[in-house]
Amino acid sequence: MEKKNLDWANLGFGYTVADYRYVSNYKDGKWDDGAIITDPNVVLNECAGVFQYAQTVFEGLKAYTTEDGHIVCFRPDLNAERMKSSCERLEMPVFPVERFIDAVEKVVKANEAWVPPYGSGATLYIRPYMMGTNPVIGVKPASEYQFRILVTPVGPYFKGGAKPITIRVSDFDRAAPHGTGHIKAGLNYAMSLHAIVDAHEQGYDENMYLDPGTRTYVEETGGANFIFITKDGKFVTPKSDSILPSITRRSLMVVAEKYCGMTVEHRPVKFSEVGDFAECGLCGTAAVISPVGKIVDHGKEICIPSGMDEMGPGLKKLYDTLTGIQMGRIEGPEGWVKVIA
Ligand code: PLP
Ligand code: COI
Repeated sequence: MEKKNLDWANLGFGYTVADYRYVSNYKDGKWDDGAIITDPNVVLNECAGVFQYAQTVFEGLKAYTTEDGHIVCFRPDLNAERMKSSCERLEMPVFPVERFIDAVEKVVKANEAWVPPYGSGATLYIRPYMMGTNPVIGVKPASEYQFRILVTPVGPYFKGGAKPITIRVSDFDRAAPHGTGHIKAGLNYAMSLHAIVDAHEQGYDENMYLDPGTRTYVEETGGANFIFITKDGKFVTPKSDSILPSITRRSLMVVAEKYCGMTVEHRPVKFSEVGDFAECGLCGTAAVISPVGKIVDHGKEICIPSGMDEMGPGLKKLYDTLTGIQMGRIEGPEGWVKVIA
């Protein structure tokens, strides 16, 4: 199978239209068989539930080419489970976990030519999503839905690749304190768009959101969870019911303890502690592990000791181990890596 002729090493985190996508429709209380199709456009009624009441959820995972030439993806069962909880919160039907995994496999196989080669620095981003499709005008859930998966080859999420970034404490909240911060619904991301545009205008790469109730605890950024390394080498990551339960973060907690021999603390993290850590990073499917070099709190700079030049040693060890598992250089815990081709 011949790969597409792309400049893999210089891809950013953007959308490139690939050849195939997966689609399944929900009507009369059931999902149809689903199919791989070629049309990237979605045509919907003007009054579709997704347009009127924002009934839309999504997921994000990646496919990798391993060192020995297989194509794999990482823990798709956890994305399927998380999408289930997102759907339940927004009164949307669940796309069954087994079918979700099967659909990921089918769409990646169909787009094999778009999966970046091993060592290229790029990966195939997989975006499952679902929306309410039939007309609704009174405030109520739709009764018909479409589940789709698009794929697109991507490079690093932050410009500058692995260079440490500068973030600022946001005055805007990512998710209103109405109990949806833990789900991957478009509405939470819509809430963060103004904050990210404003942060970029002011020269910051991302926002650090604090808990919207008291603004004293570290929550997450617009697209990643936080991880910290203490001066004595412990792994610390915020515990909160209003952040997305990152699959990368949950995996790193295991990697830190079982592979790197670190003590893991999953607990509320006060913003006032941040200056005491040795290293700070963002973790997620898109972010992988992105080091943070500086946090600006209303003009006050907190310089993370690992600095602005490169990732610190604790995060580097975690990064090498996690990506080693994902790309087949290191054997992961059972069930983490799903071989697709
Ligand atoms: N937090 C937010 C708000 C996200 O959008 C993401 C990305 O999915 C994450 C955290 C990281 O989650 P995961 O590691 O499952 O990709
Ligand atoms: C992901 O990492 O998959 C995300 O969803 C983060 C962002 C691109 C929305």
